[in-house]
Amino acid sequence: MAKEIRTIGVMTSGGDAPGMNAAIRAVARACAYYNVNCIGFYRGFQGMIEGDHCVLNARSVRNIISRGGTILKSARSEEFRTKEGRRKAAKQLDKLEVDAMVLIGGDGTFRGGQIFSKEHEVPVIGVPGTIDNDILGTNYTIGYDTALNTVIEAIDKIRDTASSHDRLFFVEVMGRDAGFIALNTGVGAGAEEILIPEEDLGLDRLLESLKRSKRSGKSSSIVVVSEGDKIGKNVYELAEYVIENMPNYDVRVTVLGHMQRGGSPSCFDRTLASRLCVKAVELLLDGKKNVMVGLINNKIAATSFDEGLSGDHEINKELLRISDILST
Ligand code: F6P
Repeated sequence: MAKEIRTIGVMTSGGDAPGMNAAIRAVARACAYYNVNCIGFYRGFQGMIEGDHCVLNARSVRNIISRGGTILKSARSEEFRTKEGRRKAAKQLDKLEVDAMVLIGGDGTFRGGQIFSKEHEVPVIGVPGTIDNDILGTNYTIGYDTALNTVIEAIDKIRDTASSHDRLFFVEVMGRDAGFIALNTGVGAGAEEILIPEEDLGLDRLLESLKRSKRSGKSSSIVVVSEGDKIGKNVYELAEYVIENMPNYDVRVTVLGHMQRGGSPSCFDRTLASRLCVKAVELLLDGKKNVMVGLINNKIAATSFDEGLSGDHEINKELLRISDILST
């Protein structure tokens, strides 16, 4: 029989994402609702290893639903990658009488949780929190929607100045291995070209497309580039290449960087975080373990870590075709 759950631990790990605080709040409040203790660990797995924690009750998470970042802080722990690090973490959980964990983060976090729960038999539920939206087992990750809105607002502003000066802007957005942000903001902001890690469109095609834009009477252009773009050049090298081959273009580069991870979460992300985390607590109380919760076709669904980590969340390539049609 599954052990009775009296205390649930929660932590945020990997790159932070808007909505993580809404997620922590939902875990703490759901625990309070079901009369279960809740403990928050600071700095992800590293805080678990060190036993760096705080007690969370319904009141200690007041007024955080609207705040960006994570009150529990986030980190990537090298020590947790070792067996010894995980053993130390298990010892801390034992000491604090934590019976189960909710891990909020990306696929690296889920991989850590998967191996930890196998080695130490601690029930673990993963909640997808990353702006990259690159997790199988959910249509949307917490933070992605807010990041899209942040990027769109920035590109709209860049468009204003690009158009005033008849310039070509390369705008780099986040997404080391995934083009979700680039693809969706590229279409949403009416970019002339979108470069993503999943598709190698090649430099010739980029030049051809920019020449076509010029011929069609466009005086300014925006190229949205995912930081992990497959062409293999970083955004500055791409800009250099275009300057060499199209000297009549006045080219500028903007790297949006970490501002994409900050800011107050959108309503969508707050609601998503709330729904996923209530479910995470309920699943643990039902004796479930080693699954991630996600939103699939607008329903909350649990997917095993094994399945969720078995591949990549595919981008919608149809959007590239839409972008091609609409950027003529
Ligand atoms: O949160 C995911 C992500 O934003 C990636 O798109 C990016 O490559 C990475 O984090 C950078 O994070 P950091 O600077 O924290 O290592």
